[in-house]
Amino acid sequence: MANNLPMIMGIGYAVPSKVVTNNDLTSLYDTSDEWIYSRTGIKERRVFASDDEAFELLRQACNQAVKNAGLDVNDIDLIIAATSMPVQLMPSTSCMVQKLLNISRNIPAFDISVACSGFVYGLDIANAYIRSGVYKNILLVTMDNCSRYIDWTDRRTSILFGDGIGAAVISAGNENDILAIDIKADGHVGDYIKMPVEKGNCPFVDKTPTPQVLDMKGQEVYKFVANIIPPYIIEDILGKNNIKAENVEYLILHQANQRIIKAVQERLGYDDSKVISNIENLGNTSASSILIATGEAIKNGNVKTPAKAIVCGFGAGMCWGAGVIRLRDGVFRKENIFQK
Ligand code: UT7
Repeated sequence: MANNLPMIMGIGYAVPSKVVTNNDLTSLYDTSDEWIYSRTGIKERRVFASDDEAFELLRQACNQAVKNAGLDVNDIDLIIAATSMPVQLMPSTSCMVQKLLNISRNIPAFDISVACSGFVYGLDIANAYIRSGVYKNILLVTMDNCSRYIDWTDRRTSILFGDGIGAAVISAGNENDILAIDIKADGHVGDYIKMPVEKGNCPFVDKTPTPQVLDMKGQEVYKFVANIIPPYIIEDILGKNNIKAENVEYLILHQANQRIIKAVQERLGYDDSKVISNIENLGNTSASSILIATGEAIKNGNVKTPAKAIVCGFGAGMCWGAGVIRLRDGVFRKENIFQK
């Protein structure tokens, strides 16, 4: 019997306690709760109150995933962190996880930078490593500190994003939980979402002060995503893997805009009970949105396991990816929630 199939054994998530409502944003620029909610579906988002809080929540989310997987932290043999807006560049987020979890072995740990596609890209990498027999228990972490990088004077982008963390343990076993997966990128439209790094640090070249904040062409991103990516890639992946949309119980899309989620829902012909959305309370948590939405939905009873789910992420790069995964019983257990 095969024992190198990818099994998603545990997931975890954590969100900060500090809430920023749409009404709070009206003190920064000319906007309204009505405008933001009607265009995005967002009412409020969360932000890390400090780096210490961010790392403590990172520790909690990872421990939760490992516990849900029924493992000890020292069973983990690879850490992948998907983060494009990290709390710090060095040490990497994945090495921070190794330290925060007190993992005593010198296992490999690396970060990937694929913005809001982080979970699906990370899952694809984990899938390949598990199937090839290289690693047995992979901890995939998603963490974006969006509030650190967005321009809080820009009402077109700062309304969207929030902070959060997700974690998943993918282990080698004899059941397949990654039924289909595919990732793609198109760097030619990379300027739709960009973040330049501050220039002028080197005293031997011209100084060109550059604000190091997220710059997004919202309309272009919206059209690219809503008209092309989810319908194309989701239908493509279902077709290539002979999976019928009606045989998949849930759609867990990257939480970028409720109108995008709705458009994909309608295209798939899914009723509301099949579509998981938490954008109203958390906004767009970038790489973490799919894992947070999944964990929350299982906790709240909106996702009943075991079940299959379509997952799809998209964002800066532009990068995107989709998969069909199996959410097994016990993948998220209420008794292992650290955060009250
Ligand atoms: O996770 C990464 C993927 N990102 C996305 O999927 C984001 C996709 N894009 C979007 O969700 C939408 O483009 C936004 C919600 C970001 C913006 O909505 P929009 O309908 O595309 O607005 P817009 O930027 O085209 O702006 C329309 C109007 C403009 O006024 P004028 O120039 O037509 O007079 C803006 O100045 O709305 C104005 N506006 C606002 N008004 C009140 C833009 N932002 C705001 C605001 N409050 N916050």
